[in-house]
Amino acid sequence: MSKQNQPYTFRYNSGEGAMHKKLKALRGEVLTFKKDPFLNELKDCVEHYKDGIVVIKGDTIEAVGNFSDVIVSFPALTDIATYEDSVIMPGFVDCHLHYVQSPMIASAGDTLLSWLKQYTFPTEAKFKDKKFAEEVAKIFFRQLLMNGTTTANVFATTFEESVDALFEESARYNARTICGKVLQDRNLPSDLQDSSAEESVMTSERLLNKWHSKGRQLYAVVPRFAPTSTRLQLRLAGELYQSYKDKGVYMHTHLGEAENEIEWVKSLYPEARDYTDVYASYDLLGKRSVFAHCCLMEEREWQTLHDAECGVAHCPSSNLFLGDAQFRYWEAKDVRRPCKVGMGTDIGGGTYFSVLRQLGDAYKVAMLHDRYLSAAKSLYLATRGGAEVLGLEDKIGSVAAGYEADMVVVDLKPTEFIEWRMQFADDIFSKLFILQTLGAEAYVKATYVAGEKVYSKV
Ligand code: GUN
Ligand code: ZN
Repeated sequence: MSKQNQPYTFRYNSGEGAMHKKLKALRGEVLTFKKDPFLNELKDCVEHYKDGIVVIKGDTIEAVGNFSDVIVSFPALTDIATYEDSVIMPGFVDCHLHYVQSPMIASAGDTLLSWLKQYTFPTEAKFKDKKFAEEVAKIFFRQLLMNGTTTANVFATTFEESVDALFEESARYNARTICGKVLQDRNLPSDLQDSSAEESVMTSERLLNKWHSKGRQLYAVVPRFAPTSTRLQLRLAGELYQSYKDKGVYMHTHLGEAENEIEWVKSLYPEARDYTDVYASYDLLGKRSVFAHCCLMEEREWQTLHDAECGVAHCPSSNLFLGDAQFRYWEAKDVRRPCKVGMGTDIGGGTYFSVLRQLGDAYKVAMLHDRYLSAAKSLYLATRGGAEVLGLEDKIGSVAAGYEADMVVVDLKPTEFIEWRMQFADDIFSKLFILQTLGAEAYVKATYVAGEKVYSKV
């Protein structure tokens, strides 16, 4: 990194603590969710300890609760990091983003399809070069961690090198990351296009066998979106997904983002009832299928996603930046057929890595439709909601005993003005709402991954 002497530090995960099952703890205000507040009373969903403690054994959370209650069970515990004016939360979950778009984030221009042609495709073509991919993966992970994101569901691009570089960097932090080779064999520049559907899916399977469940890494079958795959590629992708989905492999793609995208899908697949039906007819739906955007959806498409237990990534920053369409959480979460929803930054359509700041945008796009999205509900989307989308809600997304120790320490006083503003807020949700709305740069004090502090603001 060229910029030296920054007031923050990163450290790769040593694995030492996990190996020796060392005991340590974080003390401070703790906030976490155990259920979906869109479907349950808020009081049954939240756990909040004003003076709390999280005891970590190796890479796993051993105990959580009020400091005075929990500490009596750990008389020998001396390694306690105390965080004041902060809140300890589960690490944020980013359900959809493209690390390969980090070099072209904030490129001004046009709506989705022409933006892809003008900026995205030429940038992604550079990722055949492993060195370039490694450089981007490195800065990308630093951005995730300094924004408190501990799990991400990441698009690479066509080339094996782009997948290897991302997983290699993730493994250095021992982060739980999902990634896969992007399948795209038509309607793209030739230097980015797969040479054949068969070859592309064979490469995916090879990468899947190399990376899936290696440490905390997880593999996804990733057709970019229906317009850039032939029918044969979607069919083979569906077969690959179906044969590995019981082993926890994912399917990750885009759906219903923009009007002209949907028109294009209809012209390419006139036999399909709707856009979702294209993916359904190639067997791409399932418990670990994740669809980014879902802004323009028919009622029957929501029903299909609900029935197949698919997950949805809400990406408001990207939808605003590209000026396409807006997600309607009240439709996605309709209690008659609720869908699993998490947040996605959709870098580089989205313009910042912070999942917390996405919540500020999520609030505003709901307001455009006279809908109120509370801080509590949106914080759930950023943590446990995302974990549910990824089918990992028994491992990450909550601060609870037995969970993987991925946590963020959010600074409630990151700037002079926010510190001053906070005196007029009393409850934790009002404070976090201020933070998500005002959007400070360095609002994370520390990020813990698998029990180790991998990022800290000093
Ligand atoms: N649809 C297909 N590819 C992309 C992409 O790279 N970004 C976004 N926002 N939408 C897409
Ligand atoms: Zn995307």
